[in-house]
Amino acid sequence: MESYELEALEAVTTRPAYPYRTLTVERITPVLGAEVSGVDLSQEIPAEQLEEIRAAFRDHHVLVFRDQTITAEHHRRFAAAFGELRPVNPPPPEGDPYILEIRTTSAAANVAGNGWHADGTADAEPSLGSMLYITETPEPGCGGDTLFANMHLAYDMLSPAMRTHLDPLTAIHDGAQALAGYALPADYVIPKSEHPLVARHPETDRKLLYVNKAYTSRIPQLSPDESRALLDVLFDIIARRPVLHCRVRWTPGTLVFWDNRCVQHHATYDYYPYARYGQRIAINGGPVKG
Ligand code: SIN
Repeated sequence: MESYELEALEAVTTRPAYPYRTLTVERITPVLGAEVSGVDLSQEIPAEQLEEIRAAFRDHHVLVFRDQTITAEHHRRFAAAFGELRPVNPPPPEGDPYILEIRTTSAAANVAGNGWHADGTADAEPSLGSMLYITETPEPGCGGDTLFANMHLAYDMLSPAMRTHLDPLTAIHDGAQALAGYALPADYVIPKSEHPLVARHPETDRKLLYVNKAYTSRIPQLSPDESRALLDVLFDIIARRPVLHCRVRWTPGTLVFWDNRCVQHHATYDYYPYARYGQRIAINGGPVKG
């Protein structure tokens, strides 16, 4: 590895651990994700424990809560502790306007989210985070993992010259690109927004790479060919560097809370012809900070 890559890794892996008192937090990899135990999401969470969950979220960006038995109301209450709930868009024809059903029926041809993305980046104010609660996993008990990638580290591991080149740029995030092939209601307004290409996390001010293959279509400061080439390089780095990634293996009753501001995710469809089911609630964020 290059010296700047090692420096970036060292900065992440040597950060001091938060002094948890009510939770056990075990890292999934040194750079991303943690399994959190000692919390029952069906109960009102005490303020001190909520503070510890916030600290874990800031440090690990992907939190995994196992063996939870929760209702939609518990799910909404937990999500609401982190911000305003984000209505599903386009709205579901019936049922709860905040719950997106993540359903793979037996022998489906594909699944939603089967590519690197963060939720809602074509919106002017993308989502803060998403909470997916999986209750049905593929029958042999394997497959259907979700991959996550750390966009702070993706940025920090770039060469200093590349970082300087990217810092002033913006990128267009286009819902038409991500939603191509989906049946949408006739009155659905397809979102499209321009965001900083290098963003800052609103809570920690740390820089991060803010482009994703599903939504990001163009870097307006570059020619179309230059934009395509540079985006392809960045998408390739995100997809091909396992050091940026963690992988969550689901068991029924697992809830995962991820930070859409600094993490991308990728559903894995490796369980044909089995079924999988869960419900996702997203939380509103604010404008992307440059
Ligand atoms: C998604 O939110 O993209 C779905 C993730 C998953 O099904 O694992």
